Amino acid sequence: MAGVFISIEGTDGSGKSTQVKLVAEALRRENGLDVVETFEPGGTEIGMKIREILLSPKTVNMSPITELMLFYAARAQHVAEVIQPALRRGAYVITDRFCDSTFAYQSYGRGINPELIRQLDALLLKGFKPDLTIVIDLDVSIGLNRKKAASTADRLEMEELLFHERVREGFLDLSKAESRRFKVLDGAFPVETLTKRIVETIKERCNCL
Ligand SMILES: Nc1ncnc2c1ncn2[C@@H]1O[C@H](COP(=O)(O)OP(=O)(O)OP(=O)(O)O)[C@@H](O)[C@H]1O
Ligand SMILES: [Mg+2]
Repeated sequence: MAGVFISIEGTDGSGKSTQVKLVAEALRRENGLDVVETFEPGGTEIGMKIREILLSPKTVNMSPITELMLFYAARAQHVAEVIQPALRRGAYVITDRFCDSTFAYQSYGRGINPELIRQLDALLLKGFKPDLTIVIDLDVSIGLNRKKAASTADRLEMEELLFHERVREGFLDLSKAESRRFKVLDGAFPVETLTKRIVETIKERCNCL
């Protein structure tokens, strides 16, 4: 039995990590499902080492192409080691970020040609994509302020506001281009409302609960 692969996407501080945890708990509690929670960049031991290089404010002068390759190196490992084995045993896998973050941040944000990312994605993931992608859409300054209150900024969060605005536009463009895979939800909703909407969307779209 093949499982269900769900990604939760959005700009910094939009509420992705909060929702991955709550949605996974709700699916386990209410539906007794086998749910694997995971995240990018990371999700594996090798991925965590790459994450440290990518997000540390101590990393300076990284070229956009190096950044792209590192994200995909971590992703290839994540898919092979965690995501595909879980899907093969029939689990629900919910990941905090996946390929759409790369298009949004490295193409819309950094300006890398999206065709290059498509080619790299095709080479490494061979068409493997989430069954459902939730975009939590939120005014970027609200998200960044939420983060500021909670922790110190990582290397990508330290980018200028306009960078984050382009990333937000990126997620919305990607959603329009593939409306069957995506669902955009308003990140300004209270936490519990958003969890409920995400669980409802999983039920509607994945035709499985
Ligand atoms: N719907 C919400 N309304 C108000 N505050 C929220 C909401 N969701 C999350 N928060 C708070 O906003 C902060 C950021 O949330 P969270 O860490 O889940 O975001 P994130 O999208 O995972 O951020 P990042 O991109 O940096 O990983 C946390 O302090 C969290 O408690
Ligand atoms: Mg997070």
